[in-house]
Formats: sequence, structure tokens, C-alpha cells
Amino acid sequence: MAAPMINHRGPEFKALLPELEAGLRWAFQTENDMLIFPASGTGGLESAVANLVSPGERVLAVTIGAFGDRFADLAGAFGADVARYTLPWGEAADPEDLDDLLSREPDIATVLITHNETSTGVTNGLQALAEVVKRQQRLLVVDGVSSIGSIDLPVDRWGVDVAITASQKGWMVPPGVTMVSVSRAAWERQSTARSPRFYFDWTRARTMQAKGMTFTTPALSIFFGLREALSMMREEGLPAIFQRHLRVAAAFRAAATALGLRLLADPEIASPTVTAVYLPQALQGDKSEGVFKTWRDLGLVLGEGQSQLSGKIFRIGHLGAVYEPDVVATVEALERGLEANGHPVTRGAALSAARRALASSEPSLVA
Ligand SMILES: Cc1ncc(COP(=O)(O)O)c(C=O)c1O
Repeated sequence: MAAPMINHRGPEFKALLPELEAGLRWAFQTENDMLIFPASGTGGLESAVANLVSPGERVLAVTIGAFGDRFADLAGAFGADVARYTLPWGEAADPEDLDDLLSREPDIATVLITHNETSTGVTNGLQALAEVVKRQQRLLVVDGVSSIGSIDLPVDRWGVDVAITASQKGWMVPPGVTMVSVSRAAWERQSTARSPRFYFDWTRARTMQAKGMTFTTPALSIFFGLREALSMMREEGLPAIFQRHLRVAAAFRAAATALGLRLLADPEIASPTVTAVYLPQALQGDKSEGVFKTWRDLGLVLGEGQSQLSGKIFRIGHLGAVYEPDVVATVEALERGLEANGHPVTRGAALSAARRALASSEPSLVA
């Protein structure tokens, strides 16, 4: 990534861009067009709304947490008439409820769904939800920011019209690039949608990318990193990557349970990329600052709870380049931080539990 800049309207870039597009199509498991913008994940989400949704149009946002709420708010900001299917935080959406909702609302043309809700550590059962949306012949837009490339999301097989991700998640590179796959049906909708768009205009992006360029100056250093990340991912293979994430997540859940902590999500819907755990009762609220500080001093940076979960949970992010030694180091620091803040622990129990889960070949760990 520290390589010198190249001319982004020159021959090296013309070779690099199609290589990235092909690599991303492989990782998204799609033949659809792949658009790349310099932006964080929210920019990718905004591009979908700006290109697909017209002011006043009825849109359904399926929200199971903070990022689902954000997608709904975003559609509202563009003037959409947003219906929300909202679940309590820690739960996943139910395909039957979605089916009922869509049957009652034939005017809903677009459904926005978060695949992996990073604020709660819950992964929606997207395959079943997508089946409903497709049967009901609506356009399906999926926030796959913290899932694509880490959790199986076969875009074409499941009929996902638009899938969005961002460089800082499973792609193992810094923030700054968002990637969006666009189906033929989405292009048709885009041709008649009436929201204002400029920076994120998909038509212009596609035209420029077909010429081996991007409309604006691309985030070149991140592109260099992404090329290497995709090469690492191809070496490991998608099935092995998905398996590894399932195993690492199971290890963190086992460790948390062995530490006497309660998990936010049931194991069947628990995320392979982020694990949300309740802080011990005695360390919740104002006390949580102390334990997060101890963890930080030990070199362990954990996510805090967002919004209604603030001061109640911590979140372990484990996507991308996360391997057994990382799990071991994290669990050790987790245990020491809790112990230093007065939570009783049996030393080594969490690590043994994590190691057992990592070594397990339980079928439930198979994607
Ligand atoms: C599921 C999900 N959606 C959207 C976003 C927003 O992405 P960004 O912060 O890159 O704009 C995030 C960020 O963590 C996310 O996890």
C-alpha cells in the first residue's frame, strides 16, 4: 500500500481496475456489474438509495439494529416513504413476517436488508428472506458491509439485486472504498428512478469503469491493498474463509460463556464476524469505562455497545485476517481485563473452551 502513486488515467490503472472488478465478482459470487467508489460503507448504501429510490416511493427497511436503522433513515432522507420492519436488538428477521408484510403492501418496490448487523452481532437468515423478496417480485438491496467476503453470500444464487460492502471489513484494508454489485433488474429500476445523484451516479461509474477509469480520483493505496487481499483470499478459497470465521466466532462464544458472561444473540443467529457479549452486571453502565480502559492498556480494543446497548455490552470484531493466535491473545487479554476489574474468573478455562471450539468439526459450524 506504500507503493508510489500511479496515473489513475494511465495504463497501469487500466490493468489494475479490471483485476479488482474480477476479484470482487468472484468474492461476491456474481456475474453482475461491480461498481467501486471512494467512500466508506455508508456511501455505498447512499449510492443504492440515490440510484434506485424516487421521492415519495414506498420502501421497506428491515432493521435489526443500528445499521438497519441507518439504512432506513438514509432512505427517509432521500424522501422515500419508509415502512420499517423492526426487530428487538439481538433478534433476526422472520421470513414469514416479511412475507405477510409485503403481501399487505404491494406498493413496496424495494426492500433494504442488513445481512450482518454489526451493532448486535446477529446475522439475518438472508437466503430465506431473499426467497420471500424474490417471490414477491421486489428489488432486494443488501447491506453486506460486515459480511461479504467473510460470510457466505452468493449474490446470484440468492437473487440479491444490489449488494454493498466496504474495504475496512473482511477485505482487510483501511477504510475508504465501497464496492457495490448491481443486477440487471437494478439497472432497469435505476434508469427511471428520480432521486438526485452525482458523485454516486451508477451510470457514470459504469461508463468510466468500462474505459478502465473511475469518475473521480480513486483511493489508489487502498486499491493496491485490495489487490493483495483478494490474492490472499483466492489462495485460501471462499469455503475455507467462511469456515474459519464460523470457527473463530464459535471459539469466542465458548470463551465468553466460560468466563460466566451472557451472549446477546442466540447461537443459531450469532454472527460469524462480530460477537456481542453482555458485560457482567457489576461492570455495566459507568463502570464499563474502567474495563474498556484496562483492555485497551492490555492492547485489546473492543467495540462498545451502540445506542440502547451502550454501557451494557462489548463487541469482539473477528473478520478478515483473524487466526488462532489472534483468538488466543484476545481471550487472554479479555480474561485478564475482567479479573483486574473484579470479575471472578477461573484462569485458563476460557482459553480451553476457545481451543476446543477451534478444533471442533461440529457440523453446525459448516456454512
Ligand atoms: C452492517 C454495517 N452497515 C453499514 C456500516 C457503515 O459503514 P461505514 O462506517 O464504513 O460508513 C457499517 C459499519 O460498521 C456496518 O457494519
